[in-house]
Amino acid sequence: MKTDSGTTVSVWMSTADMPRPPRLARDLKVDVCVVGAGIAGLTTAYLLAREGRKVAVLEDGPLAGGETSRTTAHLTLPDEGFEALEHLHGEQGARLAVQSHLSAVDRIEAIARDEGIDCDFERLDGFLFVPPGEPVGDLDKELDAARRLGFGGIEKVERAPVADFDTGAALRYSRQGQFHPLKYLAGLVRALERDGALVFSGTRAEKFEGGAHARVVTREGHTVSCAALVVATNSPVNDRLVIHTKQHPYRTYVVGLRVPAGRVARALYWDYADPYHYVRLQSAGPAEEVLIVGGEDHHTGQADDAEARWDRLEQWARERWPMAKDVAFRWSGQVMEPVDGLAFIGKNPLDEDNVFIATGDSGNGMTHGTIAGLLLTDLIQGRANPWATLYDPSRKTLRATRDWVVEAAQSTAPYAEWLTPGEVSKVDEIPAGEGAVLRRGLSKVAAYRDPSGRVVERSAVCRHLGCLVEWNSGEKTWDCPCHGSRYTAEGRVVNGPATTDLPPAES
Ligand code: FES
Repeated sequence: MKTDSGTTVSVWMSTADMPRPPRLARDLKVDVCVVGAGIAGLTTAYLLAREGRKVAVLEDGPLAGGETSRTTAHLTLPDEGFEALEHLHGEQGARLAVQSHLSAVDRIEAIARDEGIDCDFERLDGFLFVPPGEPVGDLDKELDAARRLGFGGIEKVERAPVADFDTGAALRYSRQGQFHPLKYLAGLVRALERDGALVFSGTRAEKFEGGAHARVVTREGHTVSCAALVVATNSPVNDRLVIHTKQHPYRTYVVGLRVPAGRVARALYWDYADPYHYVRLQSAGPAEEVLIVGGEDHHTGQADDAEARWDRLEQWARERWPMAKDVAFRWSGQVMEPVDGLAFIGKNPLDEDNVFIATGDSGNGMTHGTIAGLLLTDLIQGRANPWATLYDPSRKTLRATRDWVVEAAQSTAPYAEWLTPGEVSKVDEIPAGEGAVLRRGLSKVAAYRDPSGRVVERSAVCRHLGCLVEWNSGEKTWDCPCHGSRYTAEGRVVNGPATTDLPPAES
């Protein structure tokens, strides 16, 4: 894919090497049906299959083809920070949050070792620093909170190990981790098939029913009957409203810069900027590594300036690591941000007792996804789990009320777009390879001109709750600013909560 500046946009991970299971072509009866084959769904399926449960996994695209393939895969403590966790969830809740994330990293390491999965897993230190010119007092508060919560693997150091840029004082977190999620998940899928699980790709689940006759019905009309149902999609496709008022979609940007091997200290880095930057290294052969730099987040659908954001990230990285060479990758991904910083994992609110969800990655999708596997396996197997209340999707975190009000206002503001004129007045104004929303009478039309000049017109009304989609020129998708549904340029749904495509525009 070419951007305006001609740079090739690509992600550092490709699903081309993932197993390619078939589309579901018959009815099935299993113990547990898992919808979504990202890290949360596949970990849940893997752990249940290890315990002898008959599991089916349904994925509408390629396995791990959603946001799991667009992560930078830092394995760290919640990026909310110790102090904020303690404020939001109390001392005991914050302790459990820290413990659960540490357990998730341990479990990934153990599974990779036990299953012989070569997924580049490594332990390394993480460094948190403040932006230039800002006071370092927040580091001291974070250090104090970590100690109150009993986390000993942290110390204050004079600077992060960035040779050509003085970061100033930093916090060092020991035994954090990183890995290659797609290599890891390919190993989980092999183990799942060995354990008798049934895995399907290209299979869109469209109807969900819990209770005594729990089942999932696919777009092709096949039924998977089950005793328990897990929906582990980036945003739950079985929940119309409740969860979507408690989390909000953000878009985050990433650039990958080639660096000579060995010139950048192997560590994870992040800062206190708002939005914050996050950095890791990925090996790319004997002589080269890729410095993966993320940040520049904004509410989904409420900005369309990807080029400028990638450029700012690149500049920020080059100031700190001047040995960086050319840009190898530029991409963006979607983060679901819960109002209180922790994922929603457990029984789906206002639903039957055997319907479970995992959502709200909060930028810690790899650890939250693994916590989901551990927690949902316990719930489905009827075991108590000490994290169940903390991650309960029905929870109300009173101390997050103010943030909830601000975020809810931002998520409903896009409904005002119904009253505005279009971004362009006629399709002739849309350049090749781009899209724009235009008004036609009382309707809004999402018009895309493909590189050959052909125009595709779809209704701009999101199929979830009627918000108007916005063009994302970086990813060439239509994104819904209200709750994060996403559609291809030609209107095919690729991310919930919507489950159906944008219909053709009315003429
Ligand atoms: Fe809810 Fe679009 S995702 S209205």
